[in-house]
Amino acid sequence: MAGKPLVAVTRIIPEAGLSVLRERTEIRLWEEEMPPDPEELGELLTGAAGALTLLTDVIDGAVLDREPQLKVISNFAVGYDNVDVEAATERGVAVCNTPGVLTETTADFAWTLMMAAARRVVESVEYVRAGQWKTWGPTLLLGRDIHGATIGIVGFGRIGKEMARRARGFDMRILAYDTHQDDEGAAEFGVEFRPLDDLLRESDFVTLHVALTPETTHLIGARELGLMKPEAVLVNASRGPVVDTAALVAALRDGEIWAAGLDVTDPEPLPPDHPLITMPNAIVVPHTASATVATRDNMAALAAKNLLAVLDGEMPPEIVNPEVLKRQ
Ligand code: DGY
Repeated sequence: MAGKPLVAVTRIIPEAGLSVLRERTEIRLWEEEMPPDPEELGELLTGAAGALTLLTDVIDGAVLDREPQLKVISNFAVGYDNVDVEAATERGVAVCNTPGVLTETTADFAWTLMMAAARRVVESVEYVRAGQWKTWGPTLLLGRDIHGATIGIVGFGRIGKEMARRARGFDMRILAYDTHQDDEGAAEFGVEFRPLDDLLRESDFVTLHVALTPETTHLIGARELGLMKPEAVLVNASRGPVVDTAALVAALRDGEIWAAGLDVTDPEPLPPDHPLITMPNAIVVPHTASATVATRDNMAALAAKNLLAVLDGEMPPEIVNPEVLKRQ
């Protein structure tokens, strides 16, 4: 009788996923806090039938060529820019991700960043902690109103739509930009589609929710930041390289935009003395928009389910390249 298939899991994920895998597979688990380096990743994947990977693991053609027995890369994230999907598809390897289960949680946090940047929450807390709070001040730590303002949502997918839902509750005018104009979604959420440049010119808040692709790399650079209002707040909860970091530093420093709330950066992490970390008008958090207990459990369970389905020869609930399984 054949033993359990070997699967590599590149970091400790919630039990909600590990326990499911443990029942059906032999797990080779990377238990360090830091991701495996390329050599360690290679060793971890040796002989594995499946891999449950994180967004910090680069899976390219060279990695896949060393492990021709690999059937599935199940990414513990909705984004899969760390995986060369074309290379995987050519080699018949299924690539899975975890959309849906993190949508609201990520939108909640992008909204939190937007409000925190607009209302200078971090600066205010630092002010109090530093013992500077002497009295109530009429012009102390003035922020920007969110209610009634215009929000520009770049990327009108699942998370972008959830931002629109939240914006309605704040009586905002809602603009969106996407390469695909979803008129039904626009009608449902009271959204007006705009070309990107117009959205940037008209919005008080610009929030980014696109996947990282060659087309969206540096989608927001010096020119685009220059189009934004000097009072505008930029939120990025997509991927760091969607924004040109040097251009953003310059725009925040020179008052071209007012503030930024960043769940993601380029590079990630930023060095502790980086201007984005030390500037008062930038809030940087460590890519934690989906980090709630329930959502990380759901991501782990879905990633495990995706992986096992492929090993069982079934179509997984979430797959990026279904053609791989259809042609088998
Ligand atoms: C993702 O899923 O792509 C996020 O960046 C992490 O939850």
